[in-house]
Formats: sequence, C-alpha cells, structure tokens
Amino acid sequence: MPSALSIDDLRLQEQIDALAAISEAPPPVVTRVLFSEADLRGRLFVQELCRQAGLLLREDAIGNFFARWPGKEAQLAPIATGSHIDAIPNAGRYDGVVGVLGALEAIRALKQSGFEPRRTIELIIFTAEEPTRFGIGCVGSRVLSGALPPKRAATLVDADGQTLEQWRSKAGYAAQPLNSVRLASSHYAGFVELHIEQGPLLERENLPIGVVEKIAGPSTLRVQLTGVGGHAGAVLMPERHDALLAGAEIALAVEQAALNTGSADTVATTGVFRIEPGAVNSVPCRACLEIDLRDTQLSTRDAALQRVEKAVPEICRRRGIDFRVERLNVDAPVLCDPAMVSTILEVCREVKLPAKQMISRAYHDSLFMAQICPTTMIFIPCRGGVSHRPDEYSSPEQISNGVLVLAHTLARLSCVSSKRHDRERIGSLQPVIT
Ligand code: GLV
Ligand code: MN
Ligand code: MN
Repeated sequence: MPSALSIDDLRLQEQIDALAAISEAPPPVVTRVLFSEADLRGRLFVQELCRQAGLLLREDAIGNFFARWPGKEAQLAPIATGSHIDAIPNAGRYDGVVGVLGALEAIRALKQSGFEPRRTIELIIFTAEEPTRFGIGCVGSRVLSGALPPKRAATLVDADGQTLEQWRSKAGYAAQPLNSVRLASSHYAGFVELHIEQGPLLERENLPIGVVEKIAGPSTLRVQLTGVGGHAGAVLMPERHDALLAGAEIALAVEQAALNTGSADTVATTGVFRIEPGAVNSVPCRACLEIDLRDTQLSTRDAALQRVEKAVPEICRRRGIDFRVERLNVDAPVLCDPAMVSTILEVCREVKLPAKQMISRAYHDSLFMAQICPTTMIFIPCRGGVSHRPDEYSSPEQISNGVLVLAHTLARLSCVSSKRHDRERIGSLQPVIT
C-alpha cells in the first residue's frame, strides 16, 4: 500500500468547477446532453487533463474514452475506474464528474507517491450514462459490455428523430463500426466507480464512505398516445379523445403500481410527458410519456412493470386513444463483487474512514461493467441527498475522502492476481488519440 498519498483538493475542486462551466445553461445549472457542443467540449477538457497527467488515450466508436496508466506487467488485465461527464438538463456539478476527475486525482496522487502499478490502471469516461437523448441510460457501457447489441444501439432515436448513427457521425466517431466497441469479459480484472450517493443515508449517519453491494434494476417504458385534437371551445366534452388526459391517468397508474408493491424499494417516475400541439386552445392530440420504474428485487420490479403495461390499454380503450408501449430497457439488479467490497472496507479501516455497505438505488455504468468483470462502487455523501439538481453538493473534504479510498483501492487491485482474467486476456488495445 502506498504510504503517504497527498490528494490535491484545491486542484480537483478547480477542475470540477471548470468542467461545470462547460454547460448548455448558465451557472449554477449544468446541462451536458450527449454529443451537444458542451458535451464535446467537456470531453476535450478532460482528455487534456488526462494527457497532462501522462496517461495514454484511446476513444472507441461510441465515444467512450480510456486513459491508461500502463502497469509494470502490461500483459495483465487492467483495473478500471471511471464514470461519466454527461449531465441531465438542470443538473449539478458532481454526478459522474467526481468519479472521473476524482479518479484522475487518485491516479495523479499515486503517481506522485512513486507507486508503480503492476497491472495497468485505466480511467474510463463513458458515453451517455444519462438517458436524456435516447431515453435509455448507460449507452456507452451497455454496448461496451454487450448488454446492448450494436444493431439495436444504431437504431436509437432522439426526440428530433436523429439516430445514434447520425450523432456518431456528427461527433466524429463513425470511422469505426459500432461492433468494435464491445470488450471481452476477460478484458478487465475489475472495475470500481467513485460516485456521490445521490441519497441521504451517509449524511444522515455521518459516514464518509459507502461501499456498494447491490445496484437496483432500472426499467424504462416509452408510451406514445394518439387521440383526436380539435378546437378547445368547439369540441364538446363527451366527444373528446384527449391524449393528455389518458397520459395523466397513466402517470397516476404508474405511481399506484409502485405504491402497491408495499416495498419502499419500488420507485416509479413519469419524468417525460410531452404533448402536441401544446396550445392552450387546442385539445392535445398526441402525448409521449417516459416512465422509469426500479427496484432492488427483480420480481417486485417486474410485477409493477406488468401492472403499468396492463393499465395502459385499459385506460386507452376507455378513452378511445391509440397507444404504443415500448420497453426501452429492462435491467436486472446486480450484486457487486464481495471480494472487492471487502478490499474497500479494509482500505477504509486502514485510512480510518468509517464506512458502511449499502445499496445504490441510482443506476450507474457499474451496472453494466458488472456483466464483464468484478465490480463495485465507492459512495461519498452529498448534501441533503440531493442530486440531478443544480444545488447538488459534496464538500472538497468529502470528495477528498472518496479519492483517497479510491486511490488505495486501485493500488491494491492493481497488485492482486486474477487467474481467470489473466489467463483469458487476449492483448491490449493501442492508444489512438495522441
Ligand atoms: C442515473 O443517473 C439514474 O437515473 O439512476
Ligand atoms: Mn445522473
Ligand atoms: Mn451518475
């Protein structure tokens, strides 16, 4: 274990603030939707920092990028860390970013201490963890892990009808085919993601660190409704087929489906509700809803999902509305790797930071990395448990604690042997950006 690690809180905070200023909306709001001008500038900013830290960069065909610190035994499967820098509309500055810039700081601190990793350590910045553009989250890690086949990924369409293929071309990633993104399940020896908790438990219990043992399983439905529009003054009430009202009933059924499971772990949200034509004196003829439904138990989540899918036709039939329901994603919860969880708990004991094991109710790229390698996450508290809002906040000290634990964890993992991964490893990828 490297003895003295010095985390430069000031430098890290400056970099977090500088990245927050790269946004589609004025401060304190951070908005960086996938492949927007702000997202592309944010990527360049982080890539430059990685370059300055002496890391080797590579980008794949979906825009995931990899910053590598070669280990002494480069033939061994690397240990990976990382997160995302895209941000939903009206977001804050820490979600994802702490796991990217914090990981970079952890690598810099390790380098500065003179530590030399045995395995390569690789920082991954994933494309589109947030579902804003395509309605489905973790697009980069889904394709990388094989959870989303390239053919299906290529057909993802945003609200303006632009496909992922079109966006890839515009952003300059289309030179390679999407099927080059997938990595073998032997590629990494492990993955650990640093992230703000996005919930209130660590703060409430006055604990600096959470170690994630399970990640809840998310699912997303898109419901498209077509009714009959018309003049708000002239169409009489008994003759109406109002798409918004059908959508409103569906949103209430979604709430009910979550409440009815009786489990506090079931959560459901209708977070998108668009109507057309959107004029005060016109009956809404079309509505599009996107529904997010999650649970830590697969069977409970699936039962609630089926309840919603059953409610849609009942409501629409009664109101004379045409409907289309699409499952955008239906993902199982994952159990994190117990050995990695123990390693992190041990590190916490050594650096004297109290920690607890916990569940992640938010999803993360870790949900998909867990499909190809042993995975877990390190959580730090955030004020009031607030996230996905401009007032999201973790203090420099809280972030520094997380970075310290991550640095020691990477140091340890980069030295342990992993028979399965090292035997199956098929060679390392070359950096392509200089
Ligand atoms: C990730 O941002 C999530 O919605 O859980
Ligand atoms: Mn998020
Ligand atoms: Mn996140």
